Amino acid sequence: MEKKVAVLPGDGIGPEVTEAAVKVLEVIARRFNHTFHVEYGTIGGDAIDKHQNPLPDETVKLCEASDAVLLGAVGGPKWDQNPSALRPEKGLLAIRKHFDLFANLRPVKAVPSLLHASPLKEEVAKDVDMMIVRELTGGLYFGEPSRRTADAAVDSLVYTREEIERIVVKSFEIARLRRGKVASVDKANVLESSKLWREVVEEKKKAYPDVEVEHMLVDSTAMKLITNPAAFDVVVTENMFGDILSDEASVITGSLGVLPSASIRSDGFGLYEPVHGSAPEIAGLGMANPAAAILSAAMMLKYSFKMETEASAIEEAVNTVFEDGFFTADLAASGQRVLSTKEWTEKVIDELDTQFVSNSIMFSYV
Ligand SMILES: NC(=O)c1ccc[n+]([C@@H]2O[C@H](COP(=O)([O-])OP(=O)(O)OC[C@H]3O[C@@H](n4cnc5c(N)ncnc54)[C@H](O)[C@@H]3O)[C@@H](O)[C@H]2O)c1
Repeated sequence: MEKKVAVLPGDGIGPEVTEAAVKVLEVIARRFNHTFHVEYGTIGGDAIDKHQNPLPDETVKLCEASDAVLLGAVGGPKWDQNPSALRPEKGLLAIRKHFDLFANLRPVKAVPSLLHASPLKEEVAKDVDMMIVRELTGGLYFGEPSRRTADAAVDSLVYTREEIERIVVKSFEIARLRRGKVASVDKANVLESSKLWREVVEEKKKAYPDVEVEHMLVDSTAMKLITNPAAFDVVVTENMFGDILSDEASVITGSLGVLPSASIRSDGFGLYEPVHGSAPEIAGLGMANPAAAILSAAMMLKYSFKMETEASAIEEAVNTVFEDGFFTADLAASGQRVLSTKEWTEKVIDELDTQFVSNSIMFSYV
């Protein structure tokens, strides 16, 4: 298969972790006979420095001409005092909106060898395997009016039926590929938008009798994510609740450095990025954990290119490297050997090569 991938490294550790992900993609291309045409563009602070725009037209055109986008991270203290239009995160909001990437998928899965880094007790965290599906292009972050005077401010939480329908349907489809359970999270005891949300869920679930649906209020969901996170399969919610709950869930696995994400639309086009930010304090030091970026590339293969086997090969390789006790600085226990970003990436590549050799031996016996 031939695919075009736009890579937007961004700021801080973004260039280091996207470099690692591209190296892994090169191995997958070689081993599975695919061609990935990789082209680079700017976003965030990097784009502000070069083009005075956090999302330049060249970047939009590059992404429009691609099948998927792989992004590093944006932001850093250098741009913190910039006026609002020249803030790096504006680039992210704008690209999600421009491409109508309405569904943000964040898998959170416990990795046995990383449980020591979880703030939760091992027995609470060990069976966690959930997918948070967050609506990404509507709600409070985009609603108008949004303005302030010296003594008052207003933000608007707006959702249309259609916006809710498409994210709810997406969550049901994802649940079918997993354990078939959806927790729909809202604040229907207070908010009109949540009442409409709940109505849509009730209506849409009729076409998915095999999916078990539970309505939950956002406040009790926040508690249950800590007390019994393993109870969740798919969690679907609106933009702001999803922003907060997915960050809460992200700490369960022990490190931000291992969490990938996808922002997709219905036709398969998507933007894939680590959950973590630009970690400016370790940028350029070769210390960044590239796992989240590598797993984001795996999500790209799965959700945009329908390359499930290739995606699983990457996931398996990453897990094996952790199980074999190889860690970057964020995860290594004291006294344990610390690998650099490049060394850890090489371990994943070696593991992919090993997998491939053992699979070829297996096939030659068949
Ligand atoms: N999607 C994004 O691009 C995104 C997301 C969050 C924050 N940010 C931006 O990133 C900058 C820093 O924000 P922050 O410090 O709140 O969040 P952060 O995720 O960058 O860092 C939080 C902590 O986790 C560590 N960390 C993060 N990713 C890591 C990795 N791959 N390997 C090893 N350690 C890692 C950092 O060193 C830091 O201690 C800010 O400018 C913020 O706006 C961007």
